[in-house]
Amino acid sequence: MADWWDADGRRHRKQFSTSSAAREHEHRETALAHAERAGREMKLAARSSRSRRSQPAVADTGTVEPAKGKLGVMIPGMGAVATTFVAGVEAIRKGLAKPIGSLTQMGTIRLGKRTDGRSPKVKEFVPLAGLDDLVFTGWDIFEDNMFEAASNAGVLDYRLLEQLKPFLASVTPRAAVFDHNYVKKIDGPNVKKGKSKMDLAEQLRQDIRDFKKSSGASRLITMWCASTESYIEPTEAHQSLKSFEKALRENDEMIAPSMIYAYASLMEGVPFANGAPNLTVDLPVMLELSRKNEAPICGKDFKTGQTLMKTVLAPAFKARLLGLSGWYSTNILGNRDGEVLDDPGSFKTKEESKLGVLEHILQPGLYPELYGNMFHKVRINYYPPRGDNKEGWDNIDIFGWLGYPMQIKVDFLCRDSILAAPIVLDLVLFLDLAQRCSELKGLGIQEWLSFYFKSPMTVPGLYPEHDLFIQLMKLKNTLRHLKGEELITHLGLEYYD
Ligand SMILES: NC(=O)c1ccc[n+]([C@@H]2O[C@H](COP(=O)([O-])OP(=O)(O)OC[C@H]3O[C@@H](n4cnc5c(N)ncnc54)[C@H](O)[C@@H]3O)[C@@H](O)[C@H]2O)c1
Repeated sequence: MADWWDADGRRHRKQFSTSSAAREHEHRETALAHAERAGREMKLAARSSRSRRSQPAVADTGTVEPAKGKLGVMIPGMGAVATTFVAGVEAIRKGLAKPIGSLTQMGTIRLGKRTDGRSPKVKEFVPLAGLDDLVFTGWDIFEDNMFEAASNAGVLDYRLLEQLKPFLASVTPRAAVFDHNYVKKIDGPNVKKGKSKMDLAEQLRQDIRDFKKSSGASRLITMWCASTESYIEPTEAHQSLKSFEKALRENDEMIAPSMIYAYASLMEGVPFANGAPNLTVDLPVMLELSRKNEAPICGKDFKTGQTLMKTVLAPAFKARLLGLSGWYSTNILGNRDGEVLDDPGSFKTKEESKLGVLEHILQPGLYPELYGNMFHKVRINYYPPRGDNKEGWDNIDIFGWLGYPMQIKVDFLCRDSILAAPIVLDLVLFLDLAQRCSELKGLGIQEWLSFYFKSPMTVPGLYPEHDLFIQLMKLKNTLRHLKGEELITHLGLEYYD
């Protein structure tokens, strides 16, 4: 069976006798749709640049509203990642620590020629909210406030947490929308009750309005940091706003809690980022709603440890045309996330998200002799003694000149939430930028933020870019474009004129 989407986003399906014939057909149709769409976009761009050229030059920031007032960050799931992020922001605000790992806080962006010497900080180049303007709320099935939740997560040193206690203890969880069928390994008391899923969505919308009022925030962002839900595939209910709302009213079991949060946010015009591998906003209905209400979306699954390494190493193999016969990845971790992923349904969701990376980067269809027979396996093992300190091993079997085999071993002793927290911060600030930017806010999916995700969202028919350095270039070029700066292509012939 092959699935593909045409240039207008319509889905098609056809039966084939072999899976390779199906895959080949799917790739060809996708490429055709891609080309057709690109052709249309180029015509549109040419038209708009003609009209832009005929106007007098306008100040570049004219299209991006300034970041005035407070930015409210709403987090479903106040666990290890969420508390490490919020505690980190407060520690940085108090001058107790540095925002290591955050592109918005520490990164620079080169502008113009290599000889120009212009490399401002990202946060000075585009108008981002300042850390002092961030205010927080969250939802969780447990009643712990952020101080208790951070202490239980065991990521941050107790001496640091003690210094942040009054602030962290003031962030208490709102009652969650939860369905045990979607997260089998945990259960908690702090859960909303309602007659239907639509009723639960209404309660979340009320929470959002209440928080906006009580915090005085001028803008909001929702950032999913809750547990990974069981694997499901999209159904008819997810295809349009009309069918989704009907399904909400009828308590359709294919509507997961994360989708109810996403629906509530987008209905309130609030952007939504998905840090877990659940479908959530990766659905036609959410794209429709996001575009309609100009509330940007992005996801899915923060790219933190092992996949970060994979999207650095695999492009290097392809660049040097080194073959790959196998890549075996295994992890041990002992936090609550590890416990949730011990359930086969939640693991399958994570596995799908982790597996797509190599296929997209290495393009076995284009390089069958190098990558046509690669064996890719991903395992996650729950091992409580390690807590949040994950160990990810990779055994990589590659081959070079004349087919001679070689091996690479990677052993990454990482800290999951320490790697995730700066990603959360950057996504909050960039999504907020997108919602203030006339060119980005109506697009729906913010593909320029793929840099942060294991399984980046794209419009139907367009394959995702997984290579970390292509993703970084896409992100920085988007910022340059927003400010009317020249895009950097690295051609560089002008230096030799
Ligand atoms: N840390 C990383 O490196 C990393 C990387 C990629 C993705 N993720 C994903 O981020 C998410 C958070 O990770 P974590 O380590 O903080 O996990 P965690 O288990 O510490 O925290 C998740 C929290 O979500 C709560 N929760 C579950 N369902 C909920 C619901 N429906 N509404 C509100 N709260 C709910 C749980 O009670 C828990 O407190 C997970 O889905 C994980 O897979 C983490």
